[in-house]
Amino acid sequence: MNEVSKKPRAIWGSKIAFILAATGSAIGLGNIWRFPMMVGRYGGAVFVLVYVLAVALIGFTVMLAELTIGRHTQKNPVGAFERIKPGTAWKAIGYLGVVTAVAILSYYAVIAGWAIGYVFKTAGGAFRDLGGAEAAAASASRAFDSFVADPLLVLVLLMGMIGMTAHIVSRGVREGIERWSKILMPLLFVIVVILAVRALTLPGARAGVSFYLKPDFSKLSGTVILFAVGQAFFSLSLGLGTMLTYGSYIRKSDNLVSSAAWVSFSDFLIAFLAGIIIFPTLFAIPGIAPEEGPALVFKVLPLIFSKIPLGQMFGLLFFLLLILAALTSTISILEVPVAYLVDEKKWSRRRAAWLVGGLAFLLGVPSALSSGGSALFTRLKIQDRMDFAFGSVSLAVGALLIAVFTGYIWKAKNAAQEIRLGAPRFRLEKAWSLAIKFLAPAVILIILIFKILKG
Ligand code: PFF
Repeated sequence: MNEVSKKPRAIWGSKIAFILAATGSAIGLGNIWRFPMMVGRYGGAVFVLVYVLAVALIGFTVMLAELTIGRHTQKNPVGAFERIKPGTAWKAIGYLGVVTAVAILSYYAVIAGWAIGYVFKTAGGAFRDLGGAEAAAASASRAFDSFVADPLLVLVLLMGMIGMTAHIVSRGVREGIERWSKILMPLLFVIVVILAVRALTLPGARAGVSFYLKPDFSKLSGTVILFAVGQAFFSLSLGLGTMLTYGSYIRKSDNLVSSAAWVSFSDFLIAFLAGIIIFPTLFAIPGIAPEEGPALVFKVLPLIFSKIPLGQMFGLLFFLLLILAALTSTISILEVPVAYLVDEKKWSRRRAAWLVGGLAFLLGVPSALSSGGSALFTRLKIQDRMDFAFGSVSLAVGALLIAVFTGYIWKAKNAAQEIRLGAPRFRLEKAWSLAIKFLAPAVILIILIFKILKG
């Protein structure tokens, strides 16, 4: 799977190998860090509800389209559109994906760096004694704020995260990583379930449960829908060609429909459970607001670790597994520009991985310093803005173009033919064709226009 440039092209060893890599890409900081942050900021349970619909109706639809384009063409995102519609501007979708990938990698790795820092802090006993109920939230907050404001530390952690990613992508030792994650991701799941159960049994957890699960429809707005749909793309790794690239290594005989369904469902499950940990804890131990933003989970998680036997061990394990989950995602992000440079520009894998990684690091510096490390970048909220521009808007634009391309340019019936190679019955054909031609483009277009009008 590592030498993308060699012909014949590598193919996943099995359907399971693909599913592991694709869920590895999907499950990451988007589930544990970004999803609770969005829920807290944009309306609680109403956001969750819109998110579920967005994943099932739009995310799944676009994922199936990406996988199908990838498998049909067996190419990187730029090459794929060029192969289906040669000599047209449609390959711009691929370029957009390449640029978006570098930008997302730059700030995503900053957050992953925070998780690395939290491994050391937890191991060092920083969260062992947070004090009584009132004091606990305050000291967890203070610990976070001073940690992320250390400019040198956050930059070193950013470099570490990007370095690991570039190393793995350049050497193509992905197989090793995937084998590890096969064992360790179920462990992450188990820990998440344990923490969720503990959070639910905290005295005072109820208020958090209703914030998270009892929709208040007066909070429904265009903004909520915009961010819920954006979060679906982010979490499912859609809109920049990651799933297209992974799809390009799938065997013709594999069932793309059930693969897409499985990846979407397991990704949703982890995000949903992350919310079950964060919100009951946040309401049971007051002091941190749901609207906290990027710091939210880093401030709330130590609270739950302090409320569970062997909390320090759980905390340590949790952050280690979170780093691994983030790593399987950063690998998939870096893979997009690297596959492009290797396939189309004939670069060596090594050169592509390290140069793009270096670029992402430079681009990540302002984000890393925007949580207190630099007064200017902090005031400009660089990281938040990067996440909005690339993690929400750019992915939505990419997904829109992919839907329009699949539905009208390549045509849904041609895509369906590719899908049927491994799923002869393809019972969802009618529904999927309608969704890719009408529902997905209409919804994405409306939210983008809404955003432009609202400024
Ligand atoms: N889906 C990843 C997560 O939820 O953490 C992030 C991500 C990976 C976004 C790959 C986009 C992408 F292409």
